[in-house]
This record gives sequence, structure tokens and C-alpha cells, in this order.
Amino acid sequence: MLLTVLRCESFLLLAATILWSSSSSSVEAQKAPFRVIREWKYLNFTWDGEEHLQDAIAKGLYVPKNNAIAGLSYHKGYYYLALPRMKEGVPATLTRIVAENATDTAPALQPYPSWKMNSLDDCAALQNVQNVEIDLSGRMWIIDGGRTNTMSKEPSGKCRPKLVLHDVAENRTMLSYTFPESVATSNAFLYDIVVDGYFAYISDNSRSDPGLIVFDLKRVQSWKVRHESTMRAQLNATYFQVDGFKVDTPINLAGIALDPTKGLLYYNPLSSFRLYSISTEALRNPGWTNTSEYIVDLGPRTSQTDGMVMDDQGVLYFGLLGSSSLAKWNTSTPFINNQELISKDLAYIQWPNAFAFNDEDEIVVLTNRLHKFIYDMMDLSENNFRLLASNISRKSYLHAKPPTPTEITTTTTTSTEGNHIHFQMVTTPTTTTTTTTTTTTTTTTTEKPTTTSMKEPVVDSETVKSVPAPTSKSERIISYSSSSLLLLLTAVTLLL
Ligand SMILES: *[C@@H]1O[C@H](CO)[C@@H](O)[C@H](O)[C@H]1NC(C)=O
Ligand SMILES: *[C@@H]1O[C@H](CO)[C@@H](O)[C@H](O)[C@H]1NC(C)=O
Ligand SMILES: *[C@@H]1O[C@H](CO)[C@@H](O)[C@H](O)[C@H]1NC(C)=O
Ligand SMILES: *[C@@H]1O[C@H](CO)[C@@H](O)[C@H](O)[C@H]1NC(C)=O
Ligand SMILES: *[C@@H]1O[C@H](CO)[C@@H](O)[C@H](O)[C@H]1NC(C)=O
Ligand SMILES: *[C@@H]1O[C@H](CO)[C@@H](O)[C@H](O)[C@H]1NC(C)=O
Ligand SMILES: *[C@@H]1O[C@H](CO)[C@@H](O)[C@H](O)[C@H]1NC(C)=O
Repeated sequence: MLLTVLRCESFLLLAATILWSSSSSSVEAQKAPFRVIREWKYLNFTWDGEEHLQDAIAKGLYVPKNNAIAGLSYHKGYYYLALPRMKEGVPATLTRIVAENATDTAPALQPYPSWKMNSLDDCAALQNVQNVEIDLSGRMWIIDGGRTNTMSKEPSGKCRPKLVLHDVAENRTMLSYTFPESVATSNAFLYDIVVDGYFAYISDNSRSDPGLIVFDLKRVQSWKVRHESTMRAQLNATYFQVDGFKVDTPINLAGIALDPTKGLLYYNPLSSFRLYSISTEALRNPGWTNTSEYIVDLGPRTSQTDGMVMDDQGVLYFGLLGSSSLAKWNTSTPFINNQELISKDLAYIQWPNAFAFNDEDEIVVLTNRLHKFIYDMMDLSENNFRLLASNISRKSYLHAKPPTPTEITTTTTTSTEGNHIHFQMVTTPTTTTTTTTTTTTTTTTTEKPTTTSMKEPVVDSETVKSVPAPTSKSERIISYSSSSLLLLLTAVTLLL
């Protein structure tokens, strides 16, 4: 076990005292500690002048306490940050910051690709982005739930859920694909995305219809794989605590990770102590109704997980919400006995929501104190959002297999159906269709009860504070019997 406190360098913050366990197999580089590379008390933006800012404030388009970063991605010198429009006053839902060593550790967020493309209530623009993925060809795959102000009393359902493909190098939108109702209803909550060549797999966290959405770029088609017992919240796992705050609500399918070499997608409901995998071969075949035969229950974990990510060597990294920690697992070994706690810090690891890899072969973790944001109890005088980085000499799963070369030409004609940008594939002989297929699976997987075995590092009591005694306010348990974060958010707003 290595404990390191980095001292302030010209550009670095005093780093978090974050532990990294050693394991028999780990190489020296894997013992690198996490350091804080950015931290924000609240989020501000690169306004086009004072007038623009004052106008946004006057119209209620910028309410600092209602902005939270939930998605993280990296591409060529920039971190891309997604700010889902859960509450009113989020001026931009997709932004970026320069990744290189910063003197300003709380930089203003630059709306991406532009302010215009972040216009609220303009269905041709981005409305509610929870996350993005950027493939090795520099295509950004943006998931946009469409519905906004999802936590408010009156969510706006003006725009439909869509997937937007944007070429980062050319700063050009290549495709805007609106999901059919059978795949994503207007209540969909497009949560996380991984890219597998021409395919994207997207988790839909929605309360009414959780599932894995598959998008096929070659055929411009989408379908959904549903599996009740492994994609819906499990009622024995709705409760956990973060920093003394109690969370008790059922939350469906959330973070996902892909191992392209094994052809497996890893997933779980947020409310679950288990991890599941599904064969991507099964996902990619819209005709298969026996999908459940390809689902494996990998076994238990010690806490609930939101975000997760795979590196290029088949190691899965994930957060453990209830124990303020990060863990990893070599997917070539049994899950049950090979999870390793890599860091634990009650102050710095509060709700790890998303992960990314940068060009320095570092893993970067976004923590966002969502437990406080949800309950409207974020203290704007404290640091609430952080990017933590550690050099682990690994790259993202996208590097695990050469990408499938694709050639896409785009046209920007506006269709009669809406403001969709049409595009054509020039490499594929198949004709472009928009037919959708819905796959429903109902078979449950067999479960073998097992005990969790997590290799715990020795915790240094001086550096890891104990859970603070909850205040009367934070002790409030908000619990109810439906199953999505969206509804939780709505209900919380109503209660407050
Ligand atoms: C990351 O760690 C490896 C192994 O210790 C080292 O070779 C490499 O230079 C480090 N990368 C950076 C950007 O410091
Ligand atoms: C946001 O940044 C602008 C400068 O671009 C500044 O004038 C404004 O006070 C900041 N807002 C907050 C809430 O800090
Ligand atoms: C940024 O900081 C790292 C770690 O100290 C250092 O290795 C690297 O050279 C710096 N990069 C730039 C562009 O200054
Ligand atoms: C992308 O293009 C738009 C205009 O189409 C422009 O307003 C915006 O600044 C550009 N963004 C970047 C990051 O270059
Ligand atoms: C919790 O529920 C899930 C799904 O119903 C089940 O697989 C798991 O074994 C249960 N865990 C415990 C600890 O009872
Ligand atoms: C699942 O169904 C597909 C299509 O019918 C079939 O090719 C495949 O062999 C089936 N898998 C199993 C394990 O039965
Ligand atoms: C994962 O485990 C397998 C089997 O033990 C081993 O061969 C491989 O080197 C491990 N991978 C990493 C990245 O540690």
C-alpha cells in the first residue's frame, strides 16, 4: 500500500491523499496515486461577454447551483464534460476544458461545439446530454435524452431522445438520429454509451422501460434489449450512504463498459450488488430473442456502482458508491475473488460518476457529489466536482482492437420530418433503412449465491476520515417505490 501526498507544484493542486493498494501482480506504475487535476465549487462558463451572462441570469438560463457534471470523455487535449439538464438554469449541456496542466484549477466550461448547439428547447441542438464517447476516428457519439428539467415539477418533453455524431476534427455534425418510440420513449434516460466499431451500446436508465439500446451505424437502425432481472433495480440494493447522506431509492441500469476483444458488455442496475455481462454478438443481432442465454451473472460486489470503464488490457475500473472507493478487476479472472480496491477516500471520492483515459495513459475519474446535488444540498463554498487522475500506463478499451474503418459522407439537407441531418454510408452495399426491431427477453439468469471477497488495502486512519455524523438535514431518507433516478429527482424536488 502506498500513500502519497503530492505537494503543490506550479500548476497542481495539493493532491488528495488517496490510497492505492498494491497487489502481487501489480507493476510499479499501477501504484501511482490519484491526484486532483481540477476541482470546482460550482460551474461557470465562457460567456460571450457580460451582456450574454446578464441576459442568461435574467432569463433563468444560468442558475449556478443547478449545474452538475455527470459525463466525462477525453480527446486530443480536451476533457469533454456533460452537464445533464436535470434542473433549470443549465446554460450548456455539453462543454469542454483544456486538458493540459492548468494554472486555473476551476476553469470556465466552454460550450461544445458552440453556444448555439446548446440552445434550450431547440430540438436541432443538444438538450440533455448525460455522456459522450469519442472513437479513435475522432467521432463524438453524443447521447441526448431530449427531455429537460427532469428533476423539476414540469419536465419539458419537447424534444425526443437522439444520438448525435459529431466529427471533432472538422467540427461538423454528421448525423442526428432520433430513436423510434419503440426503442426510447420520451421518458427515456440515455445514461451511458460505449462504441464498438459501427455499433454503439447505450444504457437506458428509464423507470418504465430500462434496457440496452443498440445502434447500428451501418444500417442506421436501433433496437433494445430488455432483461428485467438484471437491468431493473434490485430491491435489496436500494440503500447506501455517501458521506453520511442516506440514499434509498431503486435505480435501474446505469454505467456500462465494453471489452471489445472478448466481445462482452458489462453492466448492472445502479441498485444492485452484482455485475453482469452480455455477449455483444447477441446484442448486435436484432433477430435473437434468446439474448438471456448470453447473459452471465458474474457475482457480487461490496457496494453499488454508477460509472465504470474498461482499459485496453481487459481490466475493468468501477466506483463503489457506498464506500467512497474505486476498484478494479482483471476480467480474465473470476470476478468473485479478484476485485481489488485501488483507492478509498471519504472526502475526495464522493460519488464517482464517470471515467476516461487521457493521452498520458492516465485514468481520470469524475466525482460529483450527486447525493448532495439530488437533495439540493450542495454547498457552493466547498469543492463539489473533481477530476482525479492517476498514471496507470493504460489506454481506453477503444485501443484494444483496431477500429473498423468507416467512410461517411454527409449532407446537411433538412428533412421534412424535422431538423435531422441526413447522411449516407458510401462503403456499404446495403441500402439504408430505418426499420427498427425490438427484442424482448424475459428469461431470468440462474444465480448462485456467493460471498464477496474484496482485497482490501490497509486503510490509514489518519488520512481517511471517518464518516461524519449526519446532520438532521442530511439524515433525511428519501425513499419511495418506483425505479428511476429521474423519478427520484422529480420526487425530491416536490418534497423540498
Ligand atoms: C507513466 O508511468 C510510466 C511507468 O512508470 C512511465 O514510463 C511514464 O512516463 C509515465 N507517464 C507520464 C506521463 O508521466
Ligand atoms: C462567471 O464568470 C463570469 C466571467 O466570465 C463572471 O463575471 C461571473 O461573476 C461568474 N459567475 C459566478 C456565479 O461566479
Ligand atoms: C504536466 O505535468 C506533468 C506531471 O508533472 C509533466 O510530466 C508534464 O510534462 C506537464 N506537461 C506540460 C505540457 O507542461
Ligand atoms: C464549431 O462550429 C461552430 C459553427 O458551426 C462554431 O460556432 C464553433 O465555435 C465551432 N466550435 C469549435 C470548438 O471550433
Ligand atoms: C439481491 O437481489 C438480487 C436480484 O434479485 C439477487 O441476485 C441477489 O442474490 C440478492 N442479494 C442478496 C445479498 O440477497
Ligand atoms: C440463439 O438464437 C440464434 C438465432 O436463432 C441462434 O443462432 C443461436 O444459436 C441461439 N443460441 C443458442 C445458445 O441457442
Ligand atoms: C489478467 O489475468 C490473466 C490471467 O491470470 C493474465 O494472464 C493477465 O496478464 C492479466 N492481465 C493484466 C492486465 O494484469
